[in-house]
Amino acid sequence: MDTTRLAGKHVLITGGAQGMGAAVAKHYAAQGAKVCVGDINVDGVAQVAQEISDAGGVATHVKLDVTNEDDAEAAVAHTVAEFGSINVLLNNAGINKPMWFLDVTRDNYEKINAVNAWGKLNVMQKVARQMVAQGKQDYPYKIINVGSILSRDTFIDVVVYGMTQHSVLALIKGGAKALVEHNITVNGYAPGVVRTEMWEQLDRDLVEMGMFEKKGESMDSIAENMILMKRYSYPEDIVGTASFLASPESDYMTGQLLQIDGGMVLH
Ligand SMILES: NC(=O)c1ccc[n+]([C@@H]2O[C@H](COP(=O)([O-])OP(=O)(O)OC[C@H]3O[C@@H](n4cnc5c(N)ncnc54)[C@H](O)[C@@H]3O)[C@@H](O)[C@H]2O)c1
Repeated sequence: MDTTRLAGKHVLITGGAQGMGAAVAKHYAAQGAKVCVGDINVDGVAQVAQEISDAGGVATHVKLDVTNEDDAEAAVAHTVAEFGSINVLLNNAGINKPMWFLDVTRDNYEKINAVNAWGKLNVMQKVARQMVAQGKQDYPYKIINVGSILSRDTFIDVVVYGMTQHSVLALIKGGAKALVEHNITVNGYAPGVVRTEMWEQLDRDLVEMGMFEKKGESMDSIAENMILMKRYSYPEDIVGTASFLASPESDYMTGQLLQIDGGMVLH
């Protein structure tokens, strides 16, 4: 691994207590980035930051509910206080709760939309304001929004999640157009099925909804029937693309959502 690939990158990561957020935080730090990991799970991010420090990296953590504007401003301020500036955002926090279309409630919609759509816009805006205040640098500031295969398609059990993930794609396109004059790029990546706590919970929910009979069947069935590579993924499959989007190699890209799904949704 090139331990200097992300040198000089001061990154705020949302939803960094577990899953892909934690894995990317560790991967970034191992390549020389300084990372601030934020999450509603404060103990979780404290532990991730400690593990990074123990491994010789530079990390700090912050309590961050992405739906809360004061929290978002405080997380930006904390990152700047610790590292002097912020030049990369990994906008990763997200939630899901499947429901059949005819059963979807307003509460289900509002909860998922608050985190996945408003939460991403909220943190993106507060970070972008800080980037604008810092002034132009020689290379672009980078905002990376985590989307999903459901940013371009959706499935009948997760229509609301798909709606919010389409919003993430809109944020990438709209943000890229709105922020280019400040030398801020906005891109993202779209995982397919990643075995994290989110999918473990989804798997349990889908059994409860009667879509699958037993635990683990959802992931195995999707891998077998819907993924060209015939396997689901782990956070380790995702971290490389996340690093590419934070690195100078992607400096001439903006407004793009990169699919990393083993060949599940083709465009
Ligand atoms: N797991 C998958 O298969 C998959 C596929 C496509 C996209 N995604 C997206 O990738 C991202 C990471 O998913 P994951 O699988 O690692 O999930 P995860 O559930 O393992 O981790 C998500 C993290 O977000 C945090 N979080 C939830 N609500 C928050 C809030 N309001 N403010 C701050 N933090 C909050 C949680 O505490 C948790 O630490 C999410 O945006 C998810 O929608 C996941």
